[in-house]
Amino acid sequence: MEGVPMRRSSEPVTVTLECADGESVSFPCEPGQDIPTAATGVGCRPRVVCGGGGCGACRAVVVEGSVEHQGGVSQAKLEAPEPGHPGFVLMCRAHPLEDVVLRPVHRWMRRPVNRMSEALKTPASQTKTD
Ligand code: FES
Repeated sequence: MEGVPMRRSSEPVTVTLECADGESVSFPCEPGQDIPTAATGVGCRPRVVCGGGGCGACRAVVVEGSVEHQGGVSQAKLEAPEPGHPGFVLMCRAHPLEDVVLRPVHRWMRRPVNRMSEALKTPASQTKTD
């Protein structure tokens, strides 16, 4: 389709999230995968509230590379807050088109990978019941 960005590769691309204090995290993002879902693979949880492109909680600035939004997004949440600002992308609906570096507005959280599966491995004899 003419005019619609297309992912340039069927291979995973690398997404890097940078924090204002210099910390960063990188992870692979498979074709068709949104950024917050890909981030969970390394225990990173970007701030997502609505998950539907409406609230702006997942806003980020693109430092390098490009993304496309899939599904509707609030155009008001993409707008630059001041002249000279590049504007935002909404990570909950963003799919990287190539290796990309993003600077989220809100810091991500870290959680152990496979937290739920680890909890399910706990034998019943070790669970406390009152
Ligand atoms: S989480 Fe609400 S717009 Fe992305």
